[in-house]
Amino acid sequence: MKSSRSLAESVSLKSPICVLSLIVAVLSGSLVRADTRGEQLYRNCTICHNPDAQGIPLQKAPALSGLSEKYILEQLKKYKSGIRGKHPDDVAGLRMLPMAQTLASEEDMKAVASHIAELPSTSVESSLEGGNATNGQALYAVCQACHGPDGKGNDLLNAPSLLNQYDWYQLTQLKNFKSGIRGTNPQDITGAQMRPMSMILADEQAMKDVIAYIQTLSK
Ligand code: HEC
Ligand code: HEC
Repeated sequence: MKSSRSLAESVSLKSPICVLSLIVAVLSGSLVRADTRGEQLYRNCTICHNPDAQGIPLQKAPALSGLSEKYILEQLKKYKSGIRGKHPDDVAGLRMLPMAQTLASEEDMKAVASHIAELPSTSVESSLEGGNATNGQALYAVCQACHGPDGKGNDLLNAPSLLNQYDWYQLTQLKNFKSGIRGTNPQDITGAQMRPMSMILADEQAMKDVIAYIQTLSK
């Protein structure tokens, strides 16, 4: 009894400020832990995707800012299980594949995806030449069914935003879908939705045209 009374005395708001600061410390401690998990995990990604998640062209690493949490999470799962990025001709995908292995659990993948999805998205430099945006606008009529007239994407259809993304990355992806480097694994349900769309684009010129139009949507 004596010891429990002294315990009671010691917590008996003798010093309300102490108690208050204890509560604040506990609360802020748990908040910091919750939102730094994704941030901490993202540190392993910055060498290629840049701290602001705008990507690094020299690393062939695309911008991630602007992509939704759902899309990022799905792609990380695909890389981790080898559904994307495992094709022997997928030079850039093969660089990303081992990085997804550093994320031990689905919880970690969610944490890093949620952190990235909160970063602001701003326009990136265009580098492709020879695309005709006017021709591309006509081609984009098909794409907007899933990616939206504004290019913002649609999570319900699993279609990512196409805004503020490098044109060279988009060209590689369209070529990858068309040649079957991406979207042919039998478990790649959403890749299989995009693959026939890449077939509509007759040649590299058509790809460059539609990308030139997509780039105008970002401005
Ligand atoms: C060694 C460089 C490198 C590192 C480190 C790296 N990535 Fe990547 N990442 C890439 C490359 C290259 C691609 C493009 C692959 C392709 O063309 O298919 C990519 C693609 C992605 C994509 C697909 C984007 C899209 O639009 O479909 C996501 C998501 C991604 N990375 C997330 C991450 C996360 C999260 C980390 C940290 C855990 C990470 N990456 C670390 C190089 C890297
Ligand atoms: C039926 C719906 C649908 C249509 C129509 C469609 N897409 Fe997609 N697109 C998708 C889906 C779903 C994905 C994501 C695939 C995955 O999960 O790997 C995607 C992915 C992409 C990507 C890769 C983005 C990235 O960050 O890696 C590009 C580029 C793209 N689409 C461009 C286009 C273009 C250009 C057109 C029109 C010619 C088009 N899409 C039409 C559904 C569609």
